[in-house]
Amino acid sequence: TVELNMGLLPLEWLLGTWESDEPGEGCFPSIKPFRYMETLSFSHVGQPVINFMFNAFHAETKKPMHRECGFIRMQPGTNRVAFIIAQNSGLVEIEEGELTAQRLELQSQAVARTSFAKEPHVQQICRVFQLRPDGKLEQTVSMATDNKPPTQHLHIVYRRAF
Ligand code: HEM
Repeated sequence: TVELNMGLLPLEWLLGTWESDEPGEGCFPSIKPFRYMETLSFSHVGQPVINFMFNAFHAETKKPMHRECGFIRMQPGTNRVAFIIAQNSGLVEIEEGELTAQRLELQSQAVARTSFAKEPHVQQICRVFQLRPDGKLEQTVSMATDNKPPTQHLHIVYRRAF
């Protein structure tokens, strides 16, 4: 096992595998509310970078749904965090924000998509990761599209998987 890069110690609480504790809740003004399961994994190879994979599944059929993967970097000497993300929907994004205690609040800085991506297009994404006092991890995502203002899309709570 490789030692965690010193610069990433503030994010050590995120490392490992997380599984949805109960189904997450998806919503948006233009869609039917839905429930989903999700597994997150955060790992490293000693670089000043965390590698991550998020895999979502249908809560009842377990069919694979949304998937994301990417990298997390921190600006040395600051609490500034960047997520570099690729999504199976054809979206790529950079999100940046601040780490305060065990809470990460991120805002999309750049969003790009395949030329043939379905409409409406996402214009802006906000997400919050928070480690709760009970040891569970919570993720909330809101987004703005071509025709909807920033509105919550996802809320889910995870427990550590061993
Ligand atoms: C719908 C974006 C994560 C499941 C949508 C729509 C957008 C979107 C733009 C269409 C909204 C509309 O028609 O007005 C995103 C982004 C995500 C994300 C940017 C991550 C940052 C997820 C995750 C799931 C999910 C993790 C879990 C399964 C769905 C479902 C719909 C939907 C079921 C409705 C049906 C459909 O349009 O496919 N999402 N989504 N999304 N999303 Fe997400």
